[in-house]
Amino acid sequence: THCLLIGAPVDSGQHRPGCLMGPAAYRTAGLAAALQALGHRVTDLGDVVCNPVEATSANPAVHHLPETLGWTRALAEVGEAACVQGMPIFLGGDHSLALGSVAGMAAAAKAAGRPLFVLWLDAHSDFHTPGTTVSGNLHGTPVAYLAGRDFPEFPPFPAPIPPENICLFGIRSVDAAEHAALLQHEIAINDMRVLDERGVIAPLREFLELVEAADGLLHVSLDVDFLDPSVAPAVGTTVPGGATFREAHLVMELLHESRRVTSLDLVELNPFLDERGRTAHLMVDLVASLMGKKVFDRPTRSFRGQ
Ligand code: ARG
Ligand code: MN
Ligand code: MN
Ligand code: MN
Repeated sequence: THCLLIGAPVDSGQHRPGCLMGPAAYRTAGLAAALQALGHRVTDLGDVVCNPVEATSANPAVHHLPETLGWTRALAEVGEAACVQGMPIFLGGDHSLALGSVAGMAAAAKAAGRPLFVLWLDAHSDFHTPGTTVSGNLHGTPVAYLAGRDFPEFPPFPAPIPPENICLFGIRSVDAAEHAALLQHEIAINDMRVLDERGVIAPLREFLELVEAADGLLHVSLDVDFLDPSVAPAVGTTVPGGATFREAHLVMELLHESRRVTSLDLVELNPFLDERGRTAHLMVDLVASLMGKKVFDRPTRSFRGQ
């Protein structure tokens, strides 16, 4: 695979400074070398630059809207151009970067006449609109944007993703307005209750079967807080009870075996909160698993377990 690293030092989707150091932390933790060691070609496109777009929101809680609009536009453009050359890997940056990364992937999928699927690995559902957010933190909104909900301040989403093509995985923090809206959409909700009962394998395979049956493209958005804070402390919005080290690697290995992942976001890493780089290193190791790293290579294994 030709991996295209896209630095997205986005810090405007929430209030705690530090996510802007994310791209540098992934580079320092050896992301490019880890991918090259697996035989992949790596091109680092450097950091994208944001030109703010003047705008205001009807909701006074919303903050940093001009920056967020600027990032959305810039990342959609860079991402759309990159995905014809290979697999874009967005190095965040807070999760508001996915407003742009997924918009770029949706535009490209539409141009290619292929359906786009999104796997959202996160403690949060990120299903607010700019109208419903209470915190005003736009990192809590990208799933609603890509599902085609009401975003009057933003450019129309290029090709809204049908709810059946979206899978939330690992969630354990959902605000009341998000909960009410999720009940109106047929989005697969694999909250921790589901994962405790069924494990990660069965629900993930169900979703990957849908991608396979539709010959779809698959965007994976990996929020650091998907992981349990005990293994991944470097994030501003920790929620206890997250995916373990082993569950997270298993998810990545199943994704690799599906051969379906066409783009990836790495979001919410705040290196200022890290302990000697351990969270950055874990994220790099997870990307390696996603891109084919195995303890022992069983060449015939597929995500169906055959
Ligand atoms: N639902 C909360 C909010 O809207 C938390 C969102 C956290 N999102 C994230 N990408 N970490 O403020
Ligand atoms: Mn601020
Ligand atoms: Mn998130
Ligand atoms: Mn989150």
